[in-house]
Amino acid sequence: APRLSRPLSQQATKHTPAFTFDIDGVLKQGQHVLPQAKQALKILAGDNPLGKKYPFICVTNGGGTLESERCKKLTNELGVEIKEHQIVQSHTIFRSFVPLYKDKPVFVVGGRSDNCRRVAEAYGFKHVYIPADVQAWEPSIWPYGKLSEKARSYVKPADFSKISFAAILVFHDSLDAFRDLQLICDLVRAQDGVFGTLKDPRDKAAWAPERQIPVHFSNPDLLWGNEFAQARFGQGALQESIAAVYKLTTGHELQRTTGGKPTRATYDYAASLLHSAIFSPSSISLHPTGPAPPLPGRVYMVGDNPASDIAGANAYGWESILVQTGVFRGARPDEADHVPTVVKRDVLEGVKWALEREG
Ligand code: G3P
Ligand code: MG
Repeated sequence: APRLSRPLSQQATKHTPAFTFDIDGVLKQGQHVLPQAKQALKILAGDNPLGKKYPFICVTNGGGTLESERCKKLTNELGVEIKEHQIVQSHTIFRSFVPLYKDKPVFVVGGRSDNCRRVAEAYGFKHVYIPADVQAWEPSIWPYGKLSEKARSYVKPADFSKISFAAILVFHDSLDAFRDLQLICDLVRAQDGVFGTLKDPRDKAAWAPERQIPVHFSNPDLLWGNEFAQARFGQGALQESIAAVYKLTTGHELQRTTGGKPTRATYDYAASLLHSAIFSPSSISLHPTGPAPPLPGRVYMVGDNPASDIAGANAYGWESILVQTGVFRGARPDEADHVPTVVKRDVLEGVKWALEREG
């Protein structure tokens, strides 16, 4: 029978498949919600010939807001209920840093206003400072801009000559990237994480990689897709700029970690949420303690960015559907730097293809 002659990877399995959706370039283009996304999620929520519900989550390298707020907004936009355990943002895994830094000052970068401070505090970090606080302390640290009235309203006043930062956490895309590049470089080359100081360039021990203040980026995206004709620079572009300027000005390599897609930590977290959604839907922990056991059915990752969504899904053993509504604008899988299982026009085509394939 033709069905049996299909390769094993294409044969139907008896287990319900699960879906992981990227947001920007898949469900949305900038502020615009793709109608195909609404239809695709409706199908997974039960509007299909079998009347079956399929587990799904959204995994984005975006952020700058609490997961509880993001899921409410997505629910309104997409017309299908998205619960808090169905959303993984790029900084979600920063929760795992809370035990390390919760009682120490951390420098949080990225996002609009002081939103990322609110997110960090909600995660459990107790001493969170942002670039605007430092600008208010010493305006000459950033000569090219003044704090707006609005920014003054959320500044947390402090004497930064007395604060020794334990880590830099880049939560989200910077809306003032040149300022943040300056402040992050300042802090990395400072003595003991104190703004306004500088390590002695001759003191080799002080510049040893292990003595550098930890710098954690929440995602490596060089590019991401909105409604513009070409992909836009993301947090990865800032990360690479900081590393290059730091190297040119100090001669040292920037030590850093990166979370988000395509890193394993983010996929482990996402897999744990999917696992609980399938096996213990009434008690889903937002703080899983380790990688989940393999899921019984296939997981389909629908993404627009080969370097992020597809690379991560492939490495994790998931099926990957690359859509043409975001970063990738090619036609064939082999045109992508990370080759997906399949290329489809949009998320609706991708979901339909996967469900048909599952039989
Ligand atoms: O800032 C957003 C971006 O880096 C990517 O978002 O949803 O495509 O992973 P997403
Ligand atoms: Mg995307």
